[in-house]
Amino acid sequence: MNNFIISVDGPAGSGKERISKYIAKKYNFFHLDSGILYRRFTKIILEKKINLKKNSELAKLIKNISSLSAKNHKTLRTENISKFSSIIASKLIVRKFINEQQKIIIKKALKTYKGAVIDGRDIGSKVFKDANIKLFITVSAEIRAKRRHKQLLQLGEKSIYAQILRGIKLRDYKDKNRKESPLIMHKEAILIDNSNSFTKTIRKINAILAKV
Ligand code: CDP
Repeated sequence: MNNFIISVDGPAGSGKERISKYIAKKYNFFHLDSGILYRRFTKIILEKKINLKKNSELAKLIKNISSLSAKNHKTLRTENISKFSSIIASKLIVRKFINEQQKIIIKKALKTYKGAVIDGRDIGSKVFKDANIKLFITVSAEIRAKRRHKQLLQLGEKSIYAQILRGIKLRDYKDKNRKESPLIMHKEAILIDNSNSFTKTIRKINAILAKV
């Protein structure tokens, strides 16, 4: 098993990250959460007050960033960043930049690791089309909102379930209906329903991986 790529795509809050981390740990693979790159770039845009309507401003910003860190940080997980990231992610110039960043990160990682697990929206359908295994995670919007709501309360943040649900549905809509790399299940992808317990999901995943 060398240069082995597993893509894990799915909508917001479907548990892609936890699943990806589990697989990466099991096989000692590198894990990249591509959403973090979108979130980090969104944070920079908001801080620098870049005018999104002006592609030239975005292009200038991109030119000045040599590399984007994929390191997670709790300041990247706010509802504001979540909301803006799906708007910013609809821009072709941004997607091109982040896709390049992903390729650079994975190329470097594969010098040390035998494989990589990458989670996102378009990993199996666009960025790593040749992925050896493509997973697509699904969970109803209501269950995802309930989980997110609980998580925010645990973090001590204010949360209103109805608002979280609305936010998730809006992000789903934006991710599925954008022109560039919409969230779609690739024909080669294996559908994993993550509505039940993590243990049940992992059982399904292990059954798939055992055939490899
Ligand atoms: O963690 P969660 O599922 O809520 O979102 P995320 O994976 O951190 O992604 C944040 C936003 O970036 C999403 O709403 C997408 O619009 C965008 N994204 C994308 O367009 N393509 C990817 N490969 C990953 C994220």
